[in-house]
Amino acid sequence: MPFLTKQKLNLAQKLSTQIHGFLEPGEGELLFNLAQNCPPQTVIVEIGSWQGKSTVFLGLGSQTGKQNKVYAIDPHTGSPEHQKEFISISTLQNFKRNIQKANLKDLVTPLVKTSAQAAPSFRKKIGLLFIDGDHSYSMAKKDFKLWFPKLVNEGIIIFHDSTTHPGVKKMVNQSFFFSSQIKNIAFQNSLLYGQKVSQNTFFDRLKNFYLFLIHSICFILTTSSFRPPLSVIKIGKKIIRLLQF
Ligand SMILES: C[S@@+](CC[C@H](N)C(=O)[O-])C[C@H]1O[C@@H](n2cnc3c(N)ncnc32)[C@H](O)[C@@H]1O
Repeated sequence: MPFLTKQKLNLAQKLSTQIHGFLEPGEGELLFNLAQNCPPQTVIVEIGSWQGKSTVFLGLGSQTGKQNKVYAIDPHTGSPEHQKEFISISTLQNFKRNIQKANLKDLVTPLVKTSAQAAPSFRKKIGLLFIDGDHSYSMAKKDFKLWFPKLVNEGIIIFHDSTTHPGVKKMVNQSFFFSSQIKNIAFQNSLLYGQKVSQNTFFDRLKNFYLFLIHSICFILTTSSFRPPLSVIKIGKKIIRLLQF
């Protein structure tokens, strides 16, 4: 890994430890790498920023790549599950502070709106689309329907919490795994991603189906009440990686 990239990734990892958020170890690095490889003359869109943990990985990844602008869409009032947990939520101040700390003010534009409010007037070409907003089935499906058409061919779509939230899993089962416009599906922990194409091949669809099966097994294991020891989870994760040839 080039020195500058390593330095920026270390910075992202260090800053992320001080930001409240929902990314597992390894997921941030994946976001960083995907942002670094975002196609030129496109932008990165994040739906659901919370306090900016994922945004920092996307922004610093982009800085080491082609400096694609990052649009971070969030009304900053939390998702239904957060609204149940906290009495009142406003994450905008913390988000802005964390972006400033990462020196990303020029690259990251917050759009303080829901994804449905932001979509109609958003006309930029998207090279990387990260969906981590409301995880209910209907809202996740809406996000996909509104934003996937704006993603360029060869661009990457990523979903968070795909192995942990039934709403997200149902949506990706219906709209993502069996799409004729997706290839190169892979996942790490709960981050699931794939590449948009104008039309995938029979072989792509076969491979997507294979990934659907592995992903479904992971979803069942993750959401079941059975908790294996940490060492078994670690070995399981290695096997999952090997199975994704
Ligand atoms: C799970 S958190 C995002 C976590 C964040 N990506 C991180 O790494 O820490 C979900 C976020 O989605 C936002 N949200 C909920 N509904 C939304 C919607 N319709 N459009 C955009 N964002 C939404 C919430 O305000 C919340 O901040």
